[in-house]
Amino acid sequence: MDINHNLNNKFYYPKKGICVILAIVALLSMTVVFSFRAESRLANNAKPHFTRKDSLASQKAFLKVYAVLMSPRCMNCHPAGDIPLQGDDSHLHLQGVKRGPDGKGLYALKCANCHQPHNLPGLHMPPGNPKWSLPPANMKMVFQGRSPHQLAAQLLDKKRNGKKSIKALIDHITNDTLVLAGWHPAQGLAMPPLSHREFVKAFNEWISKGAVSP
Ligand code: HEC
Ligand code: HEC
Repeated sequence: MDINHNLNNKFYYPKKGICVILAIVALLSMTVVFSFRAESRLANNAKPHFTRKDSLASQKAFLKVYAVLMSPRCMNCHPAGDIPLQGDDSHLHLQGVKRGPDGKGLYALKCANCHQPHNLPGLHMPPGNPKWSLPPANMKMVFQGRSPHQLAAQLLDKKRNGKKSIKALIDHITNDTLVLAGWHPAQGLAMPPLSHREFVKAFNEWISKGAVSP
């Protein structure tokens, strides 16, 4: 009886223990599998499925956006160096004007000294806006010299676009007064290649069809 009891302890009970452990493991892994499936179903719902047609439309829309971004009315304030650009030929800004840490100009050559809240009438007069400036030195948001692929990636990168979410980015290109200034050029200067409306439409199409960079 004693021996049997010992045997039972040694062989029977441990086996029962293993069964319990196996059952728990099985239950746990089922929960993991099911919650994983639920998660991926959720993710599939959240992310719309883009077709090849969407991807092509997205790239085509970005090329329209790109043509505006690279036009002098936008690029002149998004230069590769620390000097703003001027005119339809995007020459370096005269008078030794420089970006400065905050983008508002160095020392006595503050942008607002010459650029008033409104365009001044006449040829070769400074265009105006209350916040006329370049992006700051620590986040230059360069357009000049960027390929469509590089610029698309940069616009979507919070580390390089002024910490803008996609929503903030769309809000910026729709409502920001410096963007709108592009469509109120100083006398004698060309307009961007699309209307502001067409630009916003193309930008939204680029995003909604997958934000694909060409
Ligand atoms: C000393 C006066 C002066 C200062 C300071 C100045 N600007 Fe200008 N800016 C002008 C004038 C004048 C024009 C127009 C030149 C022309 O059309 O020939 C101009 C034109 C521009 C243009 C071209 C606009 C276009 O649509 O092509 C940009 C961009 C610009 N300035 C940016 C800046 C920025 C940014 C600052 C400050 C960092 C600044 N400027 C400081 C006088 C100044
Ligand atoms: C007077 C100078 C000026 C002009 C003109 C200008 N910008 Fe900008 N832009 C800025 C400054 C300054 C910032 C940074 C401010 C901010 O992030 O809110 C900026 C930021 C941006 C951004 C934010 C994201 C990024 O990665 O660059 C976009 C997009 C943009 N501009 C588009 C345009 C477009 C499109 C035009 C022409 C229609 C334009 N800008 C004309 C000065 C200008």
